[in-house]
Amino acid sequence: MQALIINEEKFNTSPQFYEDLIITFYHNNGDEFTKDELKIPTQLKNGVFYSVVINNGKIVSLARLSTIIIGGKARKTIYMLRQIDTLKEFRNKGYASCVIHNAVDYLSKMGYKRLLSIVDASNVSSMQLHLKNGFKISKPSKTFQKSHYYWDGEYFEKFLDKR
Ligand SMILES: CC(C)(COP(=O)(O)OP(=O)(O)OC[C@H]1O[C@@H](n2cnc3c(N)ncnc32)[C@H](O)[C@@H]1OP(=O)(O)O)[C@@H](O)C(=O)NCCC(=O)NCCS
Repeated sequence: MQALIINEEKFNTSPQFYEDLIITFYHNNGDEFTKDELKIPTQLKNGVFYSVVINNGKIVSLARLSTIIIGGKARKTIYMLRQIDTLKEFRNKGYASCVIHNAVDYLSKMGYKRLLSIVDASNVSSMQLHLKNGFKISKPSKTFQKSHYYWDGEYFEKFLDKR
């Protein structure tokens, strides 16, 4: 199983290919998002990138990550895991863990220090997935909560190794 990073550089070389892959993923996953709703930019602005596993030409697991603004300031050492999903028939086979590992590896090499994530407290699978992959439950600062309030959200953080 091999994960891939779709970043601006890759996206720009073949935007339609990657857009189609990502849109197909959401359709396969049961969410009928339109291109506009997904807001896939022609360039992946704000440091957005995807970590994906592709199997037989389709994305089977995907994480979306982006930079983060806390208290009005763009943070240079922190990244945020925005979303993680695996197609139903591919779950519990290690795909999401692989996607996380790949993103963490990429961010560590880029010199980032921390990865944050907010999970709905009722989402047991996602909470367990985070713990299994080295995230710890964290107590966010008031400034962070002000910018990123999530009702019933559990806040996680993972410290990234220096590479
Ligand atoms: C959460 C999710 C991304 C996990 O994807 P996955 O590819 O199955 O994850 P992996 O195979 O890498 O890891 C499986 C781990 O998830 C956790 N998990 C999965 N199903 C679980 C369940 N029913 N109960 C508790 N933990 C569960 C466990 O930690 C499990 O590891 P283990 O089997 O060693 O205990 C997937 O279930 C999913 O897409 N859910 C719907 C979308 C979602 O809720 N996303 C997160 C919020 S944005």
